[in-house]
This record gives sequence, C-alpha cells and structure tokens, in this order.
Amino acid sequence: MTQEKKKKDSILNLLKYAGKYKWPLIFCPMVMIGEVAMETYIPKLIQRLIDEAIPNSAQSGEMSQVLICGGLMIAMALISMGFGMAGSYLGAKGGMGFGRNLRQALFEKIQRFSFKNIDKFSTASLVTRITTDVNQTQNTLIMLVRMAFRSPIMFLMSLFYAWQMNPSLTSILFVAVPLLALGIVIIMRSAFPRFQIMMKKYDILNREVQENLIAIRVVKAFVRSAFEKKKFGDAADEVTNAQRSAEKVVLWNGPLMQILMYGCIVSVLWFGGQQIIRGEMGVGALLTFITYITQILMALMMLSFLFVGIVLSRASISRILEVLNEEPDIANPESAATHVKDGEIEFDHVGFSYAGDKDNLVLQDINLHIKAGETIGLIGATGSAKTSLVSLIPRLYDVTTGTLKVGGRDVREYDIHALRDQVAMVLQKNVLFSGSIKENLRWGDENATDEEITAACQAAAADEFVRSFPGGYETDLGQGGVNVSGGQKQRLCIARALLKKPRIMILDDATSAVDTATDSRIREALRSQMPDTTKIIIAQRITSVMDADRVVVLDNGKIADVGTHDELMARCDIYRDVYLSQQKGVA
Ligand SMILES: Nc1ncnc2c1ncn2[C@@H]1O[C@H](COP(=O)(O)OP(=O)(O)OP(=O)(O)O)[C@@H](O)[C@H]1O
Ligand SMILES: [Mg+2]
Repeated sequence: MTQEKKKKDSILNLLKYAGKYKWPLIFCPMVMIGEVAMETYIPKLIQRLIDEAIPNSAQSGEMSQVLICGGLMIAMALISMGFGMAGSYLGAKGGMGFGRNLRQALFEKIQRFSFKNIDKFSTASLVTRITTDVNQTQNTLIMLVRMAFRSPIMFLMSLFYAWQMNPSLTSILFVAVPLLALGIVIIMRSAFPRFQIMMKKYDILNREVQENLIAIRVVKAFVRSAFEKKKFGDAADEVTNAQRSAEKVVLWNGPLMQILMYGCIVSVLWFGGQQIIRGEMGVGALLTFITYITQILMALMMLSFLFVGIVLSRASISRILEVLNEEPDIANPESAATHVKDGEIEFDHVGFSYAGDKDNLVLQDINLHIKAGETIGLIGATGSAKTSLVSLIPRLYDVTTGTLKVGGRDVREYDIHALRDQVAMVLQKNVLFSGSIKENLRWGDENATDEEITAACQAAAADEFVRSFPGGYETDLGQGGVNVSGGQKQRLCIARALLKKPRIMILDDATSAVDTATDSRIREALRSQMPDTTKIIIAQRITSVMDADRVVVLDNGKIADVGTHDELMARCDIYRDVYLSQQKGVA
C-alpha cells in the first residue's frame, strides 16, 4: 500500500461524520488525562508512605503522617475512578453516535447510487459495509479517544518520575522498548492482509445468507436445504479460518508483552535489590519504581492494541470510504429541466453496454421514434436486451453511444426525479414492501385519495381480489409482499405505477403471471384511461402485443423489424415463427 493511500484510509477522514457527537469525543481524552495524572502520582505516595511516614510514626508513635498519606491515596484513587468512568461514558457516547451518523451517511449515499453503482458493489457487500465495517470503525474510534492521549501521557509521566527516582535502573527500558516496538511492527504487518481477507469472507457469508433468505421458497421447493446448509457451512468455515489465521498473529502481542514485562520486573528486582543492600535506595522506592515500569509497559501495550485496532479498522475504513467516495454514476445536470413535455421517445443511434465498453455492446445502433400516446409492443427472445432497452428511458442506466430523447429533450438534461416521475416502470422483478396494500400503492402518489387508489386498482384488475381479502386495502403484505400470489403482485405493481399518472408507462413482462383474459382487460383499461400516455409493453406472449399500434422485434440487441401485427406476420420471420409456435401451443 502506498503512503498516500494509507493516509486516505485514515479514520481522520471519517471524523466529520461525528456531527454533534464531536463534543464527547473531544472531552473524553481530556478527562482521561485527569485519570492518568492521578494514577501516576499515587505510586509517589506509596513511596512516601513506606520510606517516610511509617518509619517516622514507628519512631514517634504518632499516626498522623500515615493517615494523611493513606487518606490522600484513597481520595486520589476515587477521583481517578471518577475520571475513568466519565471517560468511558463520553467515549462510548461519542463513538456510538459517530457510528450512527456514519451508517446514516452510507445509507443516504447508497440511496443516490445508480443501478450501475449498485451492480459494482453488490448488495451483500453494501450490507457488510453498513454493519460490520461501521462497528469495527466505531470500536476503534472509542479506543482511540480513550487511549490516544492517556497512553502516551502515562508513558511520559511514568518515565519522567522513574528517571527522576533512579536513572540507572530506568535504562533497562532502553532494551525493552525497542524490542516491544519491533515486535509490534512485525505483528501489525503480517496481521493486516489477513484481516482484509477475513472481511472479504464476511462478504461471501453475507451473500449466502441474503440469497438464501430471499429465495427461501425456491430452496424449499427444490429441496435444496441440505445443499444450502453445506454452502453456508463452508462460507462460515472460511470466515472462521480467516479470522483464526488473523487472530493467531495478533495473539503474539500477549506473550511478547508478558515476556518483556516480567523480564523488566526481574531486572529491576535484581539491580534494585543490590542498590537496597548498598543502601542507595529504600524498599518503598523500589516498589514505586516497579509500579512505574509496569505503567510504562502497560501504556506501550495499550498503544500497541490501539495500533492493532487501527490496522484492523483500516480495511473497514477503506471499504467505508470506497462507498462514501463513489460518485453516483447518474447525477443531475446543472440547471436541469423539470418539465417533461410529453411521452415522445426517440432513440437515435443508441448503443449500450453495462460495463460502458464501446466494443461490447448489449444494444447496438437502436433507431426508434415513438410518438406520444402510442402503444408499443416489444418482443424478442430472452436475453435479446428488452429490459436493457427500456431501462434507458427512465435513466436507470445511461446510453453508451448515441442519444435518447424523451419529450423532445435528451434524458441527461432532465432532473432525475422529474424524469422518473413521468416514466413509470413496472419491473420484471417486482418488489412490494412490508406494510399495507394501500401504503404500497401510495408509493405511486403519496397524496392519492381512496377513490384514485380504487380506480387504479380497477384498471389493473386488482380491485376485485383486494376486496376479497378480509382486510381489504388495509391488508398487511408482509416482507417483500409474500401474502399475495405472483399474478396479484404484478397487478398491484401496475396499479402502483398507474397512480403516478405518468407520461410514459413501461410494463416489463408485467402480466406474465396473469391469465390471458385479465391481461387483455388491463390493456383495454390502459388504452381507454390513459390515451395520452405512451405505453411500452414487453411480453413473451404475442397476444399481449398484437393489438399494439406497433410492435418492435428485438434480436440479439438489434432491432430486427418494426410494424403492426399484420405487417410483421407478412414479412418478419422471427415474429411469424414465435406466433406460430404459440398458436400451436394453444391448439
Ligand atoms: N446488470 C447487468 N449487468 C451486466 N449485464 C447485464 C445486466 N443485466 C443484463 N445483462 C446482460 O444484458 C443482456 C440483455 O439482458 P436483458 O435483461 O436486457 O434481456 P431481456 O431481453 O430483458 O431478457 P428476458 O426476456 O429474459 O427478460 C444479457 O446478455 C444479460 O446478460
Ligand atoms: Mg427482461
């Protein structure tokens, strides 16, 4: 990793998300300094107690010095505890608040992502970033504000007092500290890549869980539970192994510290003991000295934990920053147009590739002019890029070459909200949300009256079955709309789109699960109720498109032919073949 990248992945770049929680984060280290001041002074009192107060009181029979010393120690310990508790509270409050704000910022950013941005990260990885990665970062920050000042100050003050007491004994640290630093650097360097691998494995695990739960019905229908269990087990094992491999390295911190700590204590006892025998030092001073040496090494250990924490969270931080720094691929232009004149659509030499690669186009040289209010059928084999073609109209993706105009203007000139308000698209993969039917329908128009909702449902042939539910329009749909059948769900999604009263209505295979009679009723309602709305109907069944004004036949990303049903029957082989094969099915 380059130096520059390291700097970029620093937690400091995220601190602006602390918002109003910056105050506890600022106060916490200050309070911790108070704690350290007490903690490092108490050993001095021990020395005074043992080397002065106790011998004096033994001589004079007077306890006052001992009591003063002891009382001071208790008071300082209590104050230190108070500071410690306040520091923990402030650190936790600031850190948790920071985590909350960071999650919110990520979530808001993702809301602005285009389909292409989301394709790039994958949903599972976004979930890990918003949960595990934020937790990791938040914990590091809490540790950072608690230790960042406390440990260095403890180190310096203890070192100062120790040096003041006995410079020659303090020189033991000249051996211990470089060894500790070297050990920590080696541990850090080898731990970092391992933790990065671990986070990747977490992504995979999350993906398994997510895929399985979304498709749990399919899993059960295909009796794939055993297979899925094994797949999950494997992913879980991989996380365990990756984590174990990383922790195995970090674990060396403990023994390293212990060896150095006990090595120092033994040396102090050895050399200090000799000084006591020679009468150069008191017993109290030796005890105090050992306390300082312990505090110095403890401070260094805390710093090393902090370093390890920062190393660990660097992977998380860089993954969070990746999302925060990702530019939404589709952004509003400056001085965007907010009015879509009508539902006219014009494809002018349009080429499109999901990867933005001009040599590998999914759609090639599309030229098509659709008049406002026209009904267009769109037909073609699976994978012929029907969905891709219509996704360009509400700018779910941007064209790679050529131009696409809606209402006489390039789609890239519109304010995205204004454009999408006028282009209703019933996606091939429909989603409803938990909540009542009415709430779901109001996605189309949050101010829709009950009458408008009923009218839209009538047009979408949904009113009848909704009324048959005991809860009617208040029926709760459950997560992802599980409480309705596939065809019912499709009809609710059409009603939701109708409520938008859009200028352009796109139905991507939106009636595939609806019987032919109902399908034709819906199309009839669309035609009579929305005469000015441009309608694009993608279907596999010829019967769904044969009464359209014109039918577009897509073949492998290119327009093979455009015409009415009769014209296409007369001249387009692909169309005729599909028609005949479907007629045969009927016969
Ligand atoms: N998000 C995506 N990223 C990359 N490639 C994609 C993506 N979605 C579709 N494709 C590719 O684009 C091509 C056209 O897919 P598209 O979904 O437009 O076909 P379709 O005609 O709608 O098919 P179907 O009738 O099965 O819905 C396919 O080859 C597919 O692999
Ligand atoms: Mg499709």
